[in-house]
This record gives sequence, C-alpha cells and structure tokens, in this order.
Amino acid sequence: MADKIAVIGCGFVGVSLSVALAISGYEVLGVEVDAAKLKLLQNGQVPFFEHGLGDLFTKAMATGNLSFSSDYSKAIAGANIIFAAVGTPSREDGSVNLDYLEAAAREASKYCEPEAIWVTRSTVPVGTGRKLSLIFAQTDKKVAVVSSPEFLAEGSAMRNTFFPDRIIAGSDSPEAARKVIAVLRAIEDQGQRFAGDDLATYASLYSGAKTTSSGINAIPTLAQAPARAAELVIGLESAELIKVSSNSFLAMKISFANMVARVCAASGADVTEVMDGIGLDKRIGRDYLYPGLGWGGGCFPKDVAGFIDTLASWGIETELMDGVRQINAAQIDYVKSLATQLLGGVLTDKKITVLGASFKPGTDDVRQSQSVILAIALARAGCAVTITDPLADPTAEIARLTAEMPLAAPINFQKDLETAVQGADLLILATEWPEYVNADFAKIGAILSQKNIIDARNKIPTGKLEAAGYKYKTIGGAKSNE
Ligand SMILES: NC(=O)c1ccc[n+]([C@@H]2O[C@H](COP(=O)([O-])OP(=O)(O)OC[C@H]3O[C@@H](n4cnc5c(N)ncnc54)[C@H](O)[C@@H]3O)[C@@H](O)[C@H]2O)c1
Repeated sequence: MADKIAVIGCGFVGVSLSVALAISGYEVLGVEVDAAKLKLLQNGQVPFFEHGLGDLFTKAMATGNLSFSSDYSKAIAGANIIFAAVGTPSREDGSVNLDYLEAAAREASKYCEPEAIWVTRSTVPVGTGRKLSLIFAQTDKKVAVVSSPEFLAEGSAMRNTFFPDRIIAGSDSPEAARKVIAVLRAIEDQGQRFAGDDLATYASLYSGAKTTSSGINAIPTLAQAPARAAELVIGLESAELIKVSSNSFLAMKISFANMVARVCAASGADVTEVMDGIGLDKRIGRDYLYPGLGWGGGCFPKDVAGFIDTLASWGIETELMDGVRQINAAQIDYVKSLATQLLGGVLTDKKITVLGASFKPGTDDVRQSQSVILAIALARAGCAVTITDPLADPTAEIARLTAEMPLAAPINFQKDLETAVQGADLLILATEWPEYVNADFAKIGAILSQKNIIDARNKIPTGKLEAAGYKYKTIGGAKSNE
C-alpha cells in the first residue's frame, strides 16, 4: 500500500500538491475546513481555476488515492507526512497572520502518529517553524518540523509542481528533510514519466497562459525536458527565509523595471530594448524585468509586507522594500496620468474600459490585482468605469477594497468584451489575456466613442493599433511590442 500523506488546507497550493501526490502514487487525504470548498472537492470539482488542473484532478480522483475531509482525526492518523498549505494572510499592520497555521498544527498534534513529519508549505516569516515545534513538543510524539516552501506560480502551477526548479527542505532533522525531498522527487519522477509516455498530459503542462519573458510557451522536446531540480537540505530558518526573500526580490525586479521605464519615457529610450539589453547579463537575467502596471495577487503584496514587518522587527532598515512598494503603488497614478494625457486633460465623466481583472492571465485570482486597483482609482477620479475579464469576477474584490470608502458610482463588470467596450473613450489593457492582446482592434474601434488605448502591459503590437487608427500610450516608451 502507498504511503499515506495528509495535506492540510485545500486551496490553490494544497489542491495542486494533493493532485500531484495522488497521481505519483501516494494515498492522500486533504483536510479542508471551508464547508463550501470541501463539498466541491468531494464532488470532484476544483473550487478555483488553474490551467490544466481540472483534468489532472479527475485523473487523481480516478486513482482512488485522493479524498477530502474536514475531520483531522481521520486524515492525520496513519499519515507519515503532513503538509500544511493553509493561508497566511496579512494583518492590517502588514504582519503575517499565523492563526490558521497554528490552529492546524495544534489540531494535527492531537492525532498525528509518533515520529510523523510536519512540513510547512505555506509561506511564513522566519521563526515560524520554531513556534510550531513548541506546539508539537507539548506531545511526546517526537514530530519533526520541516520547512519546504512552495514556489509554484498561478497560471503554471502544475508545470511548476511536476518540473520544479528547486526543492528545498529545512529542518533540525536532516533525516526528516531528506524524506520530504524524496516525496517531492517522486512527483518530479512522475513529471518525467509524463514526458516519456503520456505526451498529452506533458504538453498540457506547457499550454495555457504565456508566462515566459519572451511571451512564448514552447513545449520542450523530450531531449530538452527540464533538468532535474536542484535540492537543498538546510536549516529551518534558512528555508523559511528563502521563500519570502525570493518573492521580495522578484517584486523588486518588477519595480526596478518600472522605475527605469519612467526614465525611458522621459528620455526617448524604449524600455523593451533597455530590458532586453539588461537581461542579457547572465547575472541579472530577463525574467521579471516586466515594466507594466505592477505586481499584485495573493502572494507578492502580502509577502513583501511580511518581509518589511520581519525586517522592522529585527531593527533592520526597510527603505529598499518600502521603495519597491511605493513604486508599485505609483504605477497606478502613472497610468492615470497617461489616461489624462490621452483624454485631453480631463477624466471626469469619461468612459473607460479596463481590459482584464485577474492579477495576471491564466488565473481567476483577483486578490490585490493592480487591474482592479486601477479601475477603482479611475472611478474615484470621476470616470465611468467598466472592467471586463474572460474568467475572473472582480465584484467581491472591488467591494472589499472599497468597503471603507464606497465609490460614488459603481464599477460596471461586464464579461463580454464587445459589450464592455461599447461607447468607451479609452481602453486600458491591464491584464494581458491573449483574448485582449490578439483582439481585432479595427473591429472594436468601430464601437468605441474614441479610439484611445493604453497598453499598460506592453503586449499589443503597436503597428496593429496604428493601422486601426488608435491614439495609444505604452509603458516606458515601448515602441513596437512585436
Ligand atoms: N497561491 C500561490 O500562488 C502560492 C504560491 C506559493 C506559496 N503560497 C502560499 O501557500 C499558502 C496557501 O496559499 P493558497 O493560495 O493555497 O491559499 P488559499 O486561501 O487558496 O487556501 C488556503 C486554504 O486553507 C484552508 N484552511 C485554513 N485554515 C485551515 C485549517 N485550520 N485546517 C484546514 N484547512 C484550513 C482555507 O479554508 C483555504 O481553503 C499561503 O501561505 C501562500 O502564501 C501560495
């Protein structure tokens, strides 16, 4: 019989991991406390959208290895390894709320087997593993606590799960860390098996949203199949710190690109040419040098805030990360100023359609999406704003972000593109969904009030816009976007 593994928290990370584990041959019991989510999972449905996950979920359920429950006593008993993937959201002050994780550890400690291994997959501030160890130390079960951060990105989650770049396990017990690495390697082995004998699944991991810096998502041939992940068996604190530092660094790269973009726009340089040139330096690399509307989503904003909180709590200067955050917030004002320029100096009563609501294409996740934040800023400036998205519904996030200061006029959410753009004075590409990047701008132009567009992601070939008679702005003076 397969080893039994429990996964606590069946949200984005927990479901992706559970599915991969079950397909790789483990018996997996997912623990979820949200009754609505649990019901969907038990009925064989994924409660959120992630490219390719639906089919893999069906495959995993068909193995008979995967089930879900809210009952810790059933799920945890008999499991040698317990992965925790519960949410670790920001508190108002930017610090990380560990209540869910600590509650999960307390509950698990009651039912877990002696010498079980607890693996924190959630993103946590450094020092969390030590606190969790104290919870398990109150039992006599000698549970080893391991930190093995999750590095998947939404939109390419299953590819990242089966073909990870790195596998990290940090613990006081190198033996427990190695056992965790062995499980994650088994998932990687399954990815290689897809590449060898299940080409349809292998190819499906590479389709979907464009996620590379060049915008191309080519399927590597078998000879080019991704190399095995590098692995690190390290200390608990080091593993915890790698995850938050990595996300803070990536946010910093994006904000850096946005800072340089301002100089480009002012000086006549083309930011794409500049980023291509910088990215050729192997020490820097091209990835995440994306000028645009800035970073958002369920991870970067909270991880950067959490990192700043950690720095401050150790008395370490926070200026660098404060600046990264300020540049990101300022991108909204920058795009608003481009809108003002295109609309003759006045925003009041102008009809603006924001194209895209999710924080990036390929996901329905709208948490802290810059597209939604931009729509709200435009509505506050007196514009009549419509927001459209092929998949995500931003209504609840708009309500959450405007709860304290309601909008004078509501933002109209319209899924259908043609209806959404009807009569608009300005379009803003906020999320680079292929549907928008490749839209027929000549046809759309016929139903606009004015042919104005801001490409806030530098993705639409400007030649297409020129041919269709648009006045347009890009970020950082990008000239072609070919
Ligand atoms: N989403 C990503 O792209 C991503 C990537 C890497 C790391 N992470 C990290 O992984 C963690 C989870 O992220 P997510 O996006 O999957 O969050 P999520 O909100 O989608 O899922 C968390 C789930 O945990 C459940 N939960 C909360 N308390 C519980 C408990 N005591 N017992 C059982 N279930 C419980 C919630 O109901 C929810 O379904 C976070 O720390 C996040 O920062 C997320």
